[in-house]
Amino acid sequence: MRHLMNPLDFSVEELDKLFDLAADIEKNQSKYAHACDGKILATCFYEPSTRTRLSFESAMTRLGGRVIGFADANSSSAAKGESVSDTIRVISCYADICAMRHPKEGAPMVASEKSRIPVINAGDGGHYHPTQTLTDLLTIRNLKGHLDGFTIGLCGDLKFGRTVHSLINALVRYPGTKFVFISPEELRVPDYIIEMLKDKNIPYEEVIRLENVMPKLDLLYMTRVQKERFFNEEDYVRLKDFYVLDAAKMELADKDMLVLHPLPRVNEISVEVDDDPRAAYFRQAQYGVYVRMALILTLLGLAS
Ligand code: CP
Repeated sequence: MRHLMNPLDFSVEELDKLFDLAADIEKNQSKYAHACDGKILATCFYEPSTRTRLSFESAMTRLGGRVIGFADANSSSAAKGESVSDTIRVISCYADICAMRHPKEGAPMVASEKSRIPVINAGDGGHYHPTQTLTDLLTIRNLKGHLDGFTIGLCGDLKFGRTVHSLINALVRYPGTKFVFISPEELRVPDYIIEMLKDKNIPYEEVIRLENVMPKLDLLYMTRVQKERFFNEEDYVRLKDFYVLDAAKMELADKDMLVLHPLPRVNEISVEVDDDPRAAYFRQAQYGVYVRMALILTLLGLAS
């Protein structure tokens, strides 16, 4: 039995197979309509979500399976003090696979240790968000044709952003990747990631002004400043509109640069950018369904 806690849980070769399967699912959806007949996905979300929870539910439903779960810790027995270890033991009696989001880093890992079914980390605190990373990689591969050799700018909350941490971890395995970290001083990428890049001799730079680096980027990964990760309101208010990607800034970028965003967005991308053909974030959300369908099939041992 296999879980997914970290994007590195799959080798590059396994990811290629997963993305090939996601591409086949996109092209031949009817072929997979009964692939999970009789199977049940549990979505255990202790933190709010729109995309991750609903794309998992859509994925399992499109595969012919069924979905149970909760979208709010307060509507589960966590509100009465039940541990994730006990919860997953019980969920293992009801479902064949579980996607879990939790505000505490490592909670899905703790659950996986007691689980009798595959557990997927659907986001744990500021740590990792591996299925978002699968979505991001599939989007880049589908829209650019490959995953190596890109200069990628990551902009916004690089300190608490689990999507950012996951994506950096995944992209270091592709040759020729260069990182440009764009953040205010307070939201810089954590030291442990910088140390990892230094150890692997991966080129990176850290800057504050987005405008200065726009022309050199192949990919721009925008992120939201996350109110829920701040300890005080004053810091959040000061930093929340630090970056706003608008049409004027897009003028500085290459004609083929792609803008990605895990979403939800607040103000960091102006709606005027949505009609720019380089804005890929809504297509990214669509790819999130296909890659989660591929992941469910793979973890259930149903991928051929
Ligand atoms: N990208 C993402 O994780 O969105 P949700 O928080 O809506 O699931």
